Amino acid sequence: MTDLLVPVVPVAARRRVRLRHYLMCAPAHYDVRYSINPWMDPAKPTSTALALAQWEVLHDLLVSFGHRVDVIAPGPGLPDMVFAANGATVIDGKALVARFRHPQRDGESAHYLDWFRANGFESAVQATWPNEGEGDYLTTRRAILAGTGFRSDPRAHAEAEELFDRPVIRLDLVDPRYYHLDTALAVLDDDEIMYHPAAFTPESRAVLLGLFPDAILADDRDAAVFGLNAVSDGLHVVLPEAATGLAAELRERGFEPVGVDLSELLKAGGSAKCCTLELRPAPADRP
Ligand code: ARG
Repeated sequence: MTDLLVPVVPVAARRRVRLRHYLMCAPAHYDVRYSINPWMDPAKPTSTALALAQWEVLHDLLVSFGHRVDVIAPGPGLPDMVFAANGATVIDGKALVARFRHPQRDGESAHYLDWFRANGFESAVQATWPNEGEGDYLTTRRAILAGTGFRSDPRAHAEAEELFDRPVIRLDLVDPRYYHLDTALAVLDDDEIMYHPAAFTPESRAVLLGLFPDAILADDRDAAVFGLNAVSDGLHVVLPEAATGLAAELRERGFEPVGVDLSELLKAGGSAKCCTLELRPAPADRP
């Protein structure tokens, strides 16, 4: 009976923003000139101006939530450099810079290495094996979830495990539309995620179910509009506005979904998360 007297704390009250530090890259040279994933069709017209306008909305939104957002200068001739998430993985102040799978994006790595070294990450190193940064490496409290199958090489996982001194959990992707882990799975909070089961092998699905039994599962519709390519700060979840099913589910769990229109960038196979690299400070730097 006394249980009934315990006040019910709404889930929303438990959600809290943890201020983040992000790195982004304006799509000043954005274009779809080659095709390295099924979303990219060079025959379709693109607008750099519209991409810039849509990107700016995302940038300003993250700033308005109180986050620090640094920008890296876009490299000429690198139309995919807007997808800053692919540039590196940064944990405990250590930056592991990407080694791209496709030669078309190869030139981006030097820009990221330079940026990190010029911005206090003196020990930044480039990965030895193909490793597409936060596109495939997503950090939770317990472990680093690492995608493979299309871009990052499983041998790169061991390299990340050693550098960051955290367990790396391998997840195998099977659907070419979801070629990076961040197109099929999003980390919402320390140990909460959402994902699209069909993007993974049965073995990886079992791993995810075991580790995250309460995860939000995205259906085909929400996954296909890149609803999982979301940026969460623990309260706000910025995701494509077309992912209405996920938005409803997130609201129910006490998050604040914030829909954005990044349709121009989707033509290259990217959205909110792809444009946002989180720079995780060393524990000593935390306020
Ligand atoms: N066109 C880019 C590529 O195929 C898109 C990258 C999207 N980035 C991401 N983090 N999923 O490499």
